[in-house]
Amino acid sequence: MNGPFVIAVDGPAASGKGTIAARLGQAYGLPVLDTGLLYRAVGVMAQRAGQDASDEDACAAAAAVLRAEDLADPALRTREAGELASRVAVHPRVRAALLSFQQTFASQEQGSVLDGRDIGTVICPDAPAKLFVTATPEVRAERRWKQLQEQGEAVGYDDVLADIRIRDARDGGRDAAPMRPAPDAVLLDTSRMTIGEAADAARRIVEAARARWDRS
Ligand code: DC
Repeated sequence: MNGPFVIAVDGPAASGKGTIAARLGQAYGLPVLDTGLLYRAVGVMAQRAGQDASDEDACAAAAAVLRAEDLADPALRTREAGELASRVAVHPRVRAALLSFQQTFASQEQGSVLDGRDIGTVICPDAPAKLFVTATPEVRAERRWKQLQEQGEAVGYDDVLADIRIRDARDGGRDAAPMRPAPDAVLLDTSRMTIGEAADAARRIVEAARARWDRS
């Protein structure tokens, strides 16, 4: 008996994984969880409580009381929140506190889409469809820079590129659930694709996974 049809979409910051996950959710009528928001919320909540992102106890306490409603806060979308998220995400106890929230979401019978860094490796290692979305740091910095401009955040391209490189190193270099493709993930490099092309490519990967899942 198959478990629910879970689509795991992992990859580095601004690779396009969030948009791809949202489009897949629309295409298949599945709920989508942007798991980066969980870490962003923990970072922002800890900061508001006057705690430092390096304080594992304080961050784990914030993670333990996190509610789904907290994820709607627009403050989670800022550049600073992304940086805080990457820093709190290195703590094993923060990751442990967020595990059941994510796995409960993934256990919905209708299926679901989760995007993050460790969905295919740690959160849902049995997901029938796994994508690892990448793009060069320069392309990702350009995308993130444009997004921040649209949000009204005045920041230079070079600073955004530096942020991306720091985040890649931290997210991929940490001991706890480092960002990496699952052995059975399909790699999707979106560097030379429009978002429409990337979403179509993702859909084809998921179609193939769905056909295998239907047969199993
Ligand atoms: O996807 P994002 O940029 O919103 O993620 C923000 C940070 O949260 C990212 O730099 C690392 C962390 N994160 C994580 O460690 N694991 C996840 N599943 C999702 C995000």
